[in-house]
Amino acid sequence: TTKIVIAIDGFSSCGKSTMAKELARKIGYVYIDSGAMYRAVTLYCIDNDLFENDTVNESELQKVINTLQITFKINPESGKPETYLNGENVENEIRSMRVSDKVSQVSAIPFVREAMVAQQQALGKQKGVVMDGRDIGTTVFPDAELKIFVTASPETRAQRRLDELQKKGSNVSFEEVLDNVKKRDYIDQNREISPLRKADDALLLDNSKMTLAEQDAWLIAQYNRVI
Ligand code: C5P
Repeated sequence: TTKIVIAIDGFSSCGKSTMAKELARKIGYVYIDSGAMYRAVTLYCIDNDLFENDTVNESELQKVINTLQITFKINPESGKPETYLNGENVENEIRSMRVSDKVSQVSAIPFVREAMVAQQQALGKQKGVVMDGRDIGTTVFPDAELKIFVTASPETRAQRRLDELQKKGSNVSFEEVLDNVKKRDYIDQNREISPLRKADDALLLDNSKMTLAEQDAWLIAQYNRVI
C-alpha cells in the first residue's frame, strides 16, 4: 500500500499525541511529536540561562539553534518514543510545568519555527508518518493526504492534562493547568508565523465526549477512507 502523511493538529492537551501514537502503532507508521521539539528548545533556553526577565535572548538562541540535536528513541521497556536533546534523555523534563509555561513564547520566534519545520519536513520525507502539532497541516505538510484538527473544551483538556501530571507525581492545581492551557491556546492562535488554525481541508474532531476507543475507531475509519 502507498504510504501517506497524516497531520494531526489542534489545541493544547486534546489528546492529539495519544491518538496519533495509537494510529501509528496500528498502521505501522512512525509517530513524530513536533511539540516535543519546541519543548526541547525551551528546556535548552531555561537550562542555559537564555531567559532574561521572562524574555528570550534571541540573538544567543539564534547562534545555537541549528546545533541543537533533537532526536527520538523508542524506550524498549515501554515501547514509547522518548525525546533526546544533545544526547540526553529529556522526556520527563520537557513535560514539566516550567517548560509548559514558556514553550509558546519560544515557539512564536520565527527562526525557531523555521529550524523546527525544516527538521520535521526531513523526518516526513519518506512518508509513512503521523505527526502531531499546531501547524502540521497548514505549514509543515500542506499536502498531507489526511489532516485532522482536534478540539475539546478547555476544562476537559485541563482535566486530562492534570490527570497526566498527577500520575507523574506533580502536585499542580486544576486552575494552574487550566490557566496554562488557555494561555498557550491564546499565544498559539495569535502569533504571527503559522498560527494555530484548522487547515481548510482538515477534518474537525471534537473529542470532548468521546471515549478513547471511539476516537481510535473514528481515526482508523478516516485513514481507511483515504488510503
Ligand atoms: O503539543 P504540545 O502541547 O506538547 O506543544 C507544546 C507547545 O509547542 C504548543 O503550545 C505550541 O506553542 C508549540 N508548538 C508549535 N507548533 C507545533 C507543535 C507545538 O508551535 N507544531
